[in-house]
Amino acid sequence: MSRGDAVPVHVDEERLDGLVVRLGEVGAHPDGGIVRTQYSPAWREAQDLVAQLMREAGLTVREDAVGNVFGRLEGDGSAGTLLTGSHVDTVLHGGAYDGALGVLAGIAAAEAAATAGGRPRRAVEVVSLCEEEGSRFHANFFGTRAILGVVDPDEPDRLVDADGVTLADAARSVGLDPATFAQARRDDLDLFLELHIEQGRTLVDSGTDVGVVDVITGLKWLEVEVQGSTDHAGATAMADRHDALQGAARMAAAVESVVTEQGHPAVGTVGVMRVQPGGANIVPGRVGFTVDLRHPDPTVLERLEAAVRERCRSVADDRRLDVAVTLVKDTPPHGLDAGLRTVLRDAADACGASWRDLPSGAGHDSQTMATRVPTAMVFVPSVDGRSHSPAEYSRPSDCARGASVLATALRALAW
Ligand code: GLV
Ligand code: MN
Ligand code: MN
Repeated sequence: MSRGDAVPVHVDEERLDGLVVRLGEVGAHPDGGIVRTQYSPAWREAQDLVAQLMREAGLTVREDAVGNVFGRLEGDGSAGTLLTGSHVDTVLHGGAYDGALGVLAGIAAAEAAATAGGRPRRAVEVVSLCEEEGSRFHANFFGTRAILGVVDPDEPDRLVDADGVTLADAARSVGLDPATFAQARRDDLDLFLELHIEQGRTLVDSGTDVGVVDVITGLKWLEVEVQGSTDHAGATAMADRHDALQGAARMAAAVESVVTEQGHPAVGTVGVMRVQPGGANIVPGRVGFTVDLRHPDPTVLERLEAAVRERCRSVADDRRLDVAVTLVKDTPPHGLDAGLRTVLRDAADACGASWRDLPSGAGHDSQTMATRVPTAMVFVPSVDGRSHSPAEYSRPSDCARGASVLATALRALAW
């Protein structure tokens, strides 16, 4: 790795912003924001557009078995492959930057680095990963996990969306064959860099141009099912009820208490609540809800999970309800590669960009990639720290500055 002698590579602001605008039109929802969930028609349209944008940037394009799209600049064969990119899928009614900016900045950065001349020693590939958010299936980091060869063989038929469609059927609907998913595995990657929006306020509040991520938080998702009994809302006395929603509401409040008792940076979110049967004059008989728990220290995260389980059990006992708590996702925190972080800081210095080290409270493909491949992340500021919302926005000048840092790092690492 080269150190301290980075030559700045400039990514043009209008060029990158044009890409952001084009991809941001795909999946735009009439109720606001972007909905581009894994293997939906909008997802297919987005990956096809990304492939076209990669070709326009002079990259050689290939889609793998799970729908990750790669654009490659061939190396001279003397070194392995440097991968950069992020995910193309969005949360429900998300913004145009989460994931997408890392893909598009990767394209613009590879293009700018190549324009500086010469043949890379390392092949440089830009990737548009098929899935990170888990907003349609509990399949988080599906693209990265497929590349690492750690997708469970039963996942495609086991995972279903809210309408009961399996991940396998969804894949077929966009022209993929689940029987070939294992072919997405790669063993030739030797470095991964991901540019992403910060999604918090650290950079914007401190007026810093870019962030170099030191550690990515660990996260756990729990599914909680509360079982009571349905009854008449008028004829059943309060003392005779087994109201699943009144129990679930107290459990949700307990999630907030558990994380606030732990203190910053612990966070906990109840983002989905399904009330059954859902009638204004029916005492709710069954409620399912999700819990998202995060902390960068795995021991603290274990403790938070145990405390949430204990509080749910105690509410259920008090209110004569049944409760079942299932862990559906468990992603450990991960520190990022020290050498690559130095390269990013040097690249920022070379570009005249101010930087700071910071942790990520959001989950990223990088934390999964980092289990196998030396990995680092560069953050650009999010206006007002907003993300996972249609209000998500990063200024074009900030995006281009971050992409220039990425391009400079690509040049230092691959040429
Ligand atoms: C993904 O953006 C996550 O942090 O949930
Ligand atoms: Mn996200
Ligand atoms: Mn993301």
